[in-house]
Amino acid sequence: MMSQKEFLLSILREAKGDRNQPDLFESGRNLAAPAAVYTPFTFIDLFAGIGGFHIGLGCIGGRCLYSCEWDKHAQKTYKAWFGEVPVGDIREVDPKSIPDHDLLAAGFPCQPFSIAGVSKKKSLGREHGFKDKTQGTLFFHIASIIEVKRPPVVILENVKNLLSHDKKRTWQTIKATLEELDYVVFHKVIDASGWVPQHRERIFIVCFDKQVFGANPPFQFPDPPKSEQQKFRSILERKPDSKYTLSDHLWDYLQRYAESHKAKGNGFGFGLTDLDGISRTLSARYYKDGSEVLIPQKGNNPRRLTPREAARLMGFEDSLDIVVSDTQAYRQFGNAVVPKVVEAVGQQVVQVLKWQLQQRGNGCLLKRS
Ligand SMILES: C[S@@+](CC[C@H](N)C(=O)[O-])C[C@H]1O[C@@H](n2cnc3c(N)ncnc32)[C@H](O)[C@@H]1O
Repeated sequence: MMSQKEFLLSILREAKGDRNQPDLFESGRNLAAPAAVYTPFTFIDLFAGIGGFHIGLGCIGGRCLYSCEWDKHAQKTYKAWFGEVPVGDIREVDPKSIPDHDLLAAGFPCQPFSIAGVSKKKSLGREHGFKDKTQGTLFFHIASIIEVKRPPVVILENVKNLLSHDKKRTWQTIKATLEELDYVVFHKVIDASGWVPQHRERIFIVCFDKQVFGANPPFQFPDPPKSEQQKFRSILERKPDSKYTLSDHLWDYLQRYAESHKAKGNGFGFGLTDLDGISRTLSARYYKDGSEVLIPQKGNNPRRLTPREAARLMGFEDSLDIVVSDTQAYRQFGNAVVPKVVEAVGQQVVQVLKWQLQQRGNGCLLKRS
């Protein structure tokens, strides 16, 4: 297995055009030598953002064959980091145009499913499968790709709220759809605070094709590492620019806002972070006022994170250049998945791949027509 740093250095070299690197995939997926420590597999990165999945899966032997992300700024970062511009709107993608892959990864936006639409169609005597249940949503496009490409493994990531969203209907529909597609579905809410100094709960959904792995693949979600929890202060820059310090006006406003909410019994306000603890969740709206993760400063108003600190808080290495504006950088990091959590979940998936490859003995999980 490569460390995140080694993997990043190798892809950055490739992104910059230096292809004199040994390529583990040069002669296909069945390389015998590194298999004991390194199980090469291929994946696609949907709703790719800035590639949190790309980094996490790349470190454990994954090679990205295809990416899809429509935001121009995220595409710019993706190009700088991985040397490729993701395909745009997923709604315009023909699933058949996507290469065969072992694993489909997607951190998709959460949307409600219209039940009304289903009943109307049902009453007209039409099919009541996932297509009717999910039509018009972004998840529908993931399900359609799964149906056509049948990746052996699927990893989805979303906000924890997915489980309760729309009176739990959203999650019930997603799970039912994946099961209808003949996948075994595992899910767990994982707090990234075991890997980075940030409270960040996200649901990870890991699915295995029953036609490949059977009904009981031996999958378990990872436990957080046993090492001591990283402290928030470890991600701080030494000399941040003074522009990140809150103005008197904004700091007064945030304090007054917090007071008025406290008086109404609401706990919401700014989050002054304990430097020896962990921060609140970095959101995609951080660029607005930065109030959820503020850094206390002696004798001065608190400051917000610099973009580099936001990157570190998510576990993105310093070797990755930030190539967009501060606003876009905060949005990108606040939207991203923590690569180290992906890596940990991916390692557990790789155990199942190894188990299955041993059973098959032909070194290939994909069904070839
Ligand atoms: C939660 S973010 C995923 C972030 C990603 N996991 C990462 O590590 O950066 C969801 C992404 O889906 C993208 N997106 C939303 N609708 C899309 C569409 N129709 N086609 C392609 N991408 C879309 C958004 O621009 C956003 O970057």
